[in-house]
Amino acid sequence: MKKITPKTKLSEILKINPDAAEILFEEGLSCIGCPMAMQETLEEGCLAHGMSKKDIVKLIGELNKKSEKKKGEVKEKSEIVRGNKIKKIYNKVWELAKPYYEKGRPMDIDHIKWHIKTATLVCQEEEIDDTLLLPLVILHDVGYSKISDKNYSKIDVRKLHMGEGAKIARKILKKVKYPFEKIEKIVYYVSIHDSWAMGNNKEYNEDLVLGTFNDLDFMWTATPRGFYEIMKIFNKTPKEMIDFLEKDEKLEKRPFSTLTTKKLYNQYVKDRKKELKWH
Ligand SMILES: [Fe+2]
Ligand SMILES: [Fe+2]
Repeated sequence: MKKITPKTKLSEILKINPDAAEILFEEGLSCIGCPMAMQETLEEGCLAHGMSKKDIVKLIGELNKKSEKKKGEVKEKSEIVRGNKIKKIYNKVWELAKPYYEKGRPMDIDHIKWHIKTATLVCQEEEIDDTLLLPLVILHDVGYSKISDKNYSKIDVRKLHMGEGAKIARKILKKVKYPFEKIEKIVYYVSIHDSWAMGNNKEYNEDLVLGTFNDLDFMWTATPRGFYEIMKIFNKTPKEMIDFLEKDEKLEKRPFSTLTTKKLYNQYVKDRKKELKWH
């Protein structure tokens, strides 16, 4: 089988190793989607992205290893999130988003860390496009950093955080050179991610990424940290919170999009009830 070398053209690499796109993407070489860059050699592409010679050698090793291993092998269900680690590109997005979250709601850093962990798990279990879901979970609430009104339950604040968030999300995704065609989709998701609060249910039921995102965002309310934070924000008692978790209109109007999110949610609710001795 043909070996990949520094002089191999990017267009050629994809023929040798069908998984190369993903590996290169993880390394931040998002230019693989661009027809112009396809005529560059691997080395040219890497150097343009500021990689050192040592990094390039390592990457070539990885590309050749994967191509050998993958020959004739059935693709795993989730090859996206390898070994529970999130892709480098998502880490970059998270690093750029963090400073915004530090200025956002008190729970935001924990909220997003939990989102990343849980979305990663869901992507391993279900056929969901993580290249859309992960950036969406990482970026969806960045807009709170721009809002001085701390009354987070107000509908105006919710609208505002979506609009502001979409602008920041675009900036961050461009900065990490995320694939162009995906940026618009993710930015759109951010701009409407809470629009169920304004009566939009249909889109969540028709779009698996958005629906799964909504499952996760709702599920946060049942997590140990989320439960008490949301209780404070909405000024509810523990009993009202349990009622909300068991009877909220989400369960009917935007039913869980996957079996995994449904199962996870039920477990969280069970745990919260146990904690509060609500049998
Ligand atoms: Fe939000
Ligand atoms: Fe959220």
